[in-house]
Amino acid sequence: MKRRVPNLYRIAVVVMAVAGAAVVNYSPGAKAQVASAGADKKDGLKAMYATAAEVAEGKRIAQATCIRCHGLDGISTAKGVPHLAGQRPAYLYLELRAYQSGARGKKAMDGVVEFLSDDALVKVAAYYASLDPAQPFAAHKAKPDPVQAGKAAAAACAACHGEGGISKTPGMPNLVALEPKYLVTAMKGYKSGQRKHDLMKSLLAAVSEADMNNIALYYALQTPARAQTPAAGNQAAGKTAAVACGACHGNQGVSANPAFPSIAGQDAQYLVTALQAYKNGSRRDEAMKGLAAALNDRVMKDMAAFYAAQSPQPLNIRKPLTTAEWAQKCDRCHGANGNSVDPFMPALAGQRMEYLVKVLHDYRTRVHQSSAMAAMSDALTEVDIENLAAYYARQKARTVVFVPVPGK
Ligand code: HEC
Ligand code: HEC
Ligand code: HEC
Ligand code: HEC
Repeated sequence: MKRRVPNLYRIAVVVMAVAGAAVVNYSPGAKAQVASAGADKKDGLKAMYATAAEVAEGKRIAQATCIRCHGLDGISTAKGVPHLAGQRPAYLYLELRAYQSGARGKKAMDGVVEFLSDDALVKVAAYYASLDPAQPFAAHKAKPDPVQAGKAAAAACAACHGEGGISKTPGMPNLVALEPKYLVTAMKGYKSGQRKHDLMKSLLAAVSEADMNNIALYYALQTPARAQTPAAGNQAAGKTAAVACGACHGNQGVSANPAFPSIAGQDAQYLVTALQAYKNGSRRDEAMKGLAAALNDRVMKDMAAFYAAQSPQPLNIRKPLTTAEWAQKCDRCHGANGNSVDPFMPALAGQRMEYLVKVLHDYRTRVHQSSAMAAMSDALTEVDIENLAAYYARQKARTVVFVPVPGK
């Protein structure tokens, strides 16, 4: 393909490159979806290639209509108002169209863009896109990763429950390879007194619900192993007696249903204590009470020996992505460190943190409609959203110069 780049653009590109902007060859024809798309996208291309005179006209429109919120420099000083300076031109134009059509919800920009012509939107988008972007903002502190936070909060538990939740002390249960939901229910039960145990109650008194979730996630992700404690009973007799238990706890004590705890590799003494507690009613559970009532101490010991000898299995739980891992996914569309090189794709670098948080919520609640971002935002937790917003707010924003490369 022979590329013909107009000389004027060459000069502009050299100047902009010296000023630190990225230079991107962009062929309008090469993007089939643009060529075949409706007027919206074609007008987006007009915003990219606006002339100096059109940009100047866009500045006059901004002065008349936009500056009370966005400023003449496109750098916001107000909460909830995004920076526009240096944002990608075709994206800005498309968002203005989205406000006009109501696809972004109406409130904030209501009445502002409704009466502007397409031509005016093209020009004002080109104007704000041509400005130098805001400086990055580094003051935001990232929230700790939930697994790291869980590990820190579980430091106090290791003395009894062992490193990584693998018990070395008879009577102390393994916490590894248990469903987070079960562990959280157990912790809340102790804390509220519904599950009676004075020691665990006092130990969990100061532990927040968020920390319980983090602790449970941390233990769920550790490599499972049997409790390193003795088991006195007769395993073979225990196996025979335990046939009826397999329906809920799994034949080898590995439960396939999160409603029933796994008991494979559990500390034998704790298993006996638990069965006795169900039997005498100090631990309440309808299903287990009836079953345990029929068991004598000998059978309990044998069953405990059988289950203690089984191998606990890793849970089907994925480690949540770190902020850096998420950002890699986002950057595939939004460009390296949020510096998009696609004129239709918003840059995120240097954007206001609280605006990024709000917008991600808007995608999730569909106030702001975008199929790509609906899917992405659904997968994010609150902590992910805050950390990603903080991450992009502190990236250095770079302007981009799009050089038209006509098809052959
Ligand atoms: C009354 C204050 C106000 C005025 C006037 C105003 N805006 Fe906005 N603008 C906002 C707010 C608030 C948002 C964020 C809304 C949201 O969260 O969707 C916004 C969002 C935008 C966005 C979306 C940015 C992005 O990153 O997605 C664009 C583009 C925009 N404004 C352009 C303009 C232009 C151009 C004008 C003038 C024609 C203008 N605005 C006038 C308040 C204003
Ligand atoms: C001083 C020893 C000790 C410490 C420290 C301790 N625990 Fe325990 N934990 C126990 C004992 C004993 C039990 C069994 C109680 C029972 O019979 O219900 C238990 C039971 C549990 C259970 C129930 C397990 C199951 O299979 O149902 C959970 C969950 C738990 N502890 C979490 C924690 C967490 C989280 C910490 C740290 C914040 C902690 N424990 C610290 C002694 C301790
Ligand atoms: C109908 C389903 C069901 C059957 C059958 C069943 N269990 Fe359970 N089991 C449960 C449920 C539900 C719990 C959790 C109750 C709670 O939260 O205290 C549980 C809890 C336990 C616990 C405590 C685990 C822990 O980590 O604290 C032990 C031990 C146990 N069962 C042993 C047995 C044995 C032995 C049998 C066979 C005699 C058996 N279960 C049969 C449903 C069942
Ligand atoms: C498949 C491509 C794709 C991926 C991956 C993607 N985005 Fe987007 N994103 C888009 C598109 C397209 C838009 C513009 C949607 C619209 O018109 O509102 C957008 C818009 C946004 C906006 C709004 C920007 C503004 O100025 O209003 C934010 C914030 C955002 N994305 C954050 C993220 C984050 C964080 C991730 C990673 C978790 C991510 N995106 C991953 C395609 C993507």
